[in-house]
Amino acid sequence: MKTIDLRSDTVTKPSPAMREAMARAEVGDDVFGDDPTVNRLQEICAGRFGMDAGLFFPSGTQSNCAALMAHCQRGEEVIVGQDAHTYHYEAGGMAVLGSIQPQPLTNRPDGTLDLGEVEAAIKPDDAHFAVTRLLALENTIGGKVIPRAYMADAVALAKRRGLSTHLDGARIFNASVKLGTPVKELCAGFDSVSVCLSKGLGTPAGTVLVGRKDVIARARRIRKMLGGTMRQVGILAAAGIYALEHNVERLAEDHANAERLGKGLAAMGLAVDPVQTNMVFAAIPKNSVAGLKAHLEASGVAALVGPRLRLVTHLDLDRAAIDRAIEVFGAFFRKAAAHAAD
Ligand SMILES: Cc1ncc(COP(=O)(O)O)c(C=O)c1O
Repeated sequence: MKTIDLRSDTVTKPSPAMREAMARAEVGDDVFGDDPTVNRLQEICAGRFGMDAGLFFPSGTQSNCAALMAHCQRGEEVIVGQDAHTYHYEAGGMAVLGSIQPQPLTNRPDGTLDLGEVEAAIKPDDAHFAVTRLLALENTIGGKVIPRAYMADAVALAKRRGLSTHLDGARIFNASVKLGTPVKELCAGFDSVSVCLSKGLGTPAGTVLVGRKDVIARARRIRKMLGGTMRQVGILAAAGIYALEHNVERLAEDHANAERLGKGLAAMGLAVDPVQTNMVFAAIPKNSVAGLKAHLEASGVAALVGPRLRLVTHLDLDRAAIDRAIEVFGAFFRKAAAHAAD
């Protein structure tokens, strides 16, 4: 029986058609700027996002780090959410590699930062303080969509206070599909946006950083410094182009599947957060965590089980797989309820 893998949307495998596109890709040495497929992907992304230029990276972590370093000099500061991937989940790369000081702020339940707090966190021009240089946001964040009006207000505040802006848009297409708003509108005004191709879009690897010409030029040198420059990488860029052509609109299916999964879990009595895109979060009673983990493993469902369960839908899971997952969870909680009643 095929495992139903709900750990992340990064677990997808390239489809036969995507592999075919990869096999056919024209390639060249991208260090010389000679790879036509990479160049095409970068142009397509820049165009879609209404930005000057794009730059292909092996991963989202490296693209974010290069962007932060392109915006901030050593000892300068970025205002960022406590829950942001750039702050919480990138091994402190901005500090280690870029000597950038993060100024973290608590994300509100909807994923946004309070813009009053952002403004208050901007340091005055005083030799005691780091120079606040950048505001970094994320959309979607924890599966939550940040609305366009908020993004516009955040960008306007940053511009008014002389800050640059970076968006970790690893799942920006999920936000765009959910809102029915083109990414160009959603990201308008940002100086850089990091766009992952290997999450919901289903490629084996790759992220494109799009942004202002000068930011991308600096990021190119930093990418070299970080060891992220690749050679005949058009085979990966071809997967990216394929994904942009075939796998964006269908994210709506992942969102519908996540909603169905969330409803299924809620019907079992679990406290489930409102589902917005392709992530489902549910509270698991502490005394059920170990048992649930073992049950899922034995039943062919892969999930990162803890007191706060996160399940992620993606293009390798169809409706039937979701229904089977609901059935597997249901079997566990029915049994748990029967034991409690004994
Ligand atoms: C929001 C967000 N940003 C960035 C990344 C980093 O991407 P990568 O795993 O390609 O380094 C991830 C990875 O899961 C992510 O979820």
